[in-house]
Amino acid sequence: MTLRKIRMLITSIAVVVSSLQITRAEHIDLNLSDYDDDLMRDLDKAIKYFEPDITAGNADAAKDDAATLEDGFKYTEDYFRKKGPYEDAVAISIEGLKYTRAAVEAVTNNDFTAAAAAAQAAAKTCRACHDIYKPLNKK
Ligand code: HEC
Repeated sequence: MTLRKIRMLITSIAVVVSSLQITRAEHIDLNLSDYDDDLMRDLDKAIKYFEPDITAGNADAAKDDAATLEDGFKYTEDYFRKKGPYEDAVAISIEGLKYTRAAVEAVTNNDFTAAAAAAQAAAKTCRACHDIYKPLNKK
């Protein structure tokens, strides 16, 4: 991917994510007894370090974070596809994966500014899904 394509991808995904947030779908309750909370906690650590690792220019650490995030978004995509299908959760997961990959591409191209923007956008997809699907009594 060229840098211009990465930027275009980031812009187009940003539009989708912001429209998801504007519509602010109602909260949905579902049985999450089979959900992988441990993976979510790994994601939490990875997302906290992702952008700081990028802005520090720490490419290897950022790629490690991204690998965890990719696993997480693939898991949520698959989980919500089988469970519902809950199309919006599937779409949000795919967005998160695309942002994560765009960040890695940008890191590879030494464009840490674009990478940081993509990392921030990836973090927004976590919240977009939680707003709808994470039980309200969970922090
Ligand atoms: C497509 C939906 C979806 C996406 C994307 C998603 N999550 Fe979650 N997450 C959930 C749901 C649903 C729960 C609640 C699970 C439960 O109650 O067992 C949850 C729970 C959590 C928890 C609480 C786990 C616990 O200890 O109970 C954390 C932390 C978390 N997510 C972090 C993240 C991070 C960080 C990202 C993004 C990198 C992310 N999640 C992306 C759906 C999602």
